[in-house]
Amino acid sequence: MTLAEFIAALDLLAAEAPARIAAAADLDAWTEVRNALVGRQSGRLTDIMSGLGALPKEDRREAGQRANGAKAAIDDALEVRRAALAAAAPASGPTIDPTLPARARWKGAVHPVSLVIDEVVEIFRELGFTIALGPEAEHAWYNFGALNFPDDHPAMDLHDTLYLGEDQVLRTHTSPVQVRTLQQYPPPVRVLAPGNVYRRDFFDPSHAPMFAQIEGLVVDEGVSFADLKATLAHFARRFFGAGTKTRFRPSYFPFTEPSAEMDVQCGVCSGAGCSVCKQSGWVEILGSGMVHPAVLEAAGLDSERYTGWAFGMGPARTAISRHGIPDIRILYDSDVRFLDQFTR
Ligand code: DAH
Repeated sequence: MTLAEFIAALDLLAAEAPARIAAAADLDAWTEVRNALVGRQSGRLTDIMSGLGALPKEDRREAGQRANGAKAAIDDALEVRRAALAAAAPASGPTIDPTLPARARWKGAVHPVSLVIDEVVEIFRELGFTIALGPEAEHAWYNFGALNFPDDHPAMDLHDTLYLGEDQVLRTHTSPVQVRTLQQYPPPVRVLAPGNVYRRDFFDPSHAPMFAQIEGLVVDEGVSFADLKATLAHFARRFFGAGTKTRFRPSYFPFTEPSAEMDVQCGVCSGAGCSVCKQSGWVEILGSGMVHPAVLEAAGLDSERYTGWAFGMGPARTAISRHGIPDIRILYDSDVRFLDQFTR
């Protein structure tokens, strides 16, 4: 081969290349054209360059420079075409932008009172308690009479109780579930009864006409006040923390004898005294007592054979002191900005 032949081959390639490159209609066709023109394996340029060694020594330098020039021109034209095809190429499949922030979906949260109920239920479930439920529209006998309220008890007053009719009330506490449970299931009984109760109160910072209670009841042979104390103190340590101190104060409820209220040491000030515990160092958590024999008898049980203990607590109060909520009404406003803050 002579230099002139070598140059003629390059010129031919350079003349053909623009039209072939322009004819590539998509990126696949472009790749084929590029391989055919300048591909290392079988491209036309590679083919021509392989003749370089056969040229007279003094011509090789010029031949090499011309070949490089031709390659540069073809490469430029290829790149211009590739960019144009890439810009015009329809995206395959739906276009997604993975850098876009995801659309936030509101998942909801668990109401702070429900959170307390769930935790209390869980702790007593470990001790073998099951859940019992009763109606919110309750017969006055279950709400009062069966629970040993005397006929003239002030709680039965129209001012305190919401009556639905002569003998029908909105239950003022969850204690009627005690009687309904004992009527239905023979001892041993260990139940927890969470639910809403109603009182004739107006909404104010510390009262609501409807609120939740959790009732607990244990009835069996040989159940004693020691069982009550040990179980409720255990509950307080599980719920409020291992070192939590408790104290029992004598109290009065018609349906228990003896009766006691349980306080836990104030978690906010550790007993030193603060606004949450009204400077006393203690916060009242629940009412409790040994089930009055009259209640056992009203439910049809032999009070000589069986004894029991019971308690009632207000999970709203617990939620309020736990989160430092300044006004009980916030719990019932359904304001998403408040409710959204609570997750398990
Ligand atoms: N029923 C009471 C109330 O409404 C709470 C209560 C106190 C429940 C003592 C009990 C109990 O079971 O033993 O405030």
